[in-house]
Amino acid sequence: MDDLLNYSLGNDPLTSFKEWFDAASLVEQNAPAMSVATYDHEHHRPMARVLLYKGLQNDCLTFYTNYLSHKSKDLDHNPEVCLNFYWHVSGRQVRVQGKVSKMSHSDSEKYFHSRDRDSQIASYISTQSSAIADKQALMDKFEQTKNAFEGKPVPCPEHWGGYLVKPYEFEFFLYGANRINDRFLYQLKNNKWEVTRLQP
Ligand SMILES: Cc1cc2nc3c(=O)[nH]c(=O)nc-3n(C[C@H](O)[C@H](O)[C@H](O)COP(=O)(O)O)c2cc1C
Repeated sequence: MDDLLNYSLGNDPLTSFKEWFDAASLVEQNAPAMSVATYDHEHHRPMARVLLYKGLQNDCLTFYTNYLSHKSKDLDHNPEVCLNFYWHVSGRQVRVQGKVSKMSHSDSEKYFHSRDRDSQIASYISTQSSAIADKQALMDKFEQTKNAFEGKPVPCPEHWGGYLVKPYEFEFFLYGANRINDRFLYQLKNNKWEVTRLQP
């Protein structure tokens, strides 16, 4: 499409996404986070939550979480995700559709050990998304675990790790004057990205 370059977009949406993300990181005040929607098969409804976006790996977008959490149970049943990035200052949004797979445990471990020690312990003790009677029980477990691992590395639990999102659709959105927004849809067809301009 001839006018893509006017919006810092090219034929490869992964490269364009990285450029938009890097540009937004310079001006936005929020954490580099995205909304992640999954399909809750038990209640037949969508679920969304904010997660930190942790960059590209082998042309996949990545995030880390607890594999026993609500979202991970959703993903065990249906690996389809929709990611949404919103940058207020830049007036931009990117929506990504893709399928997830779990990262290797060794890659997850590498990231786990790059985090600060208290975050490692918090991830170690939490059965994310399960009910808990009160916060004190969790804080006691945190202190006990901290003491137990004093001077030793905190092991990355098997139930904690990364997801790789292999994208097959991107939509780039820019606010325009008078709500005449610019929207470009990239769809992967026969291993080639096809671009369509959408109405606002
Ligand atoms: C800015 C922000 C960043 C977050 N990053 C993560 C993250 O990287 N991984 C994660 O598991 N939860 C993260 N959370 C918490 C999630 O939004 C969510 O509450 C948690 O993952 C449980 O979701 P689930 O019950 O739908 O599985 C973050 C929350 C906020 C507000």
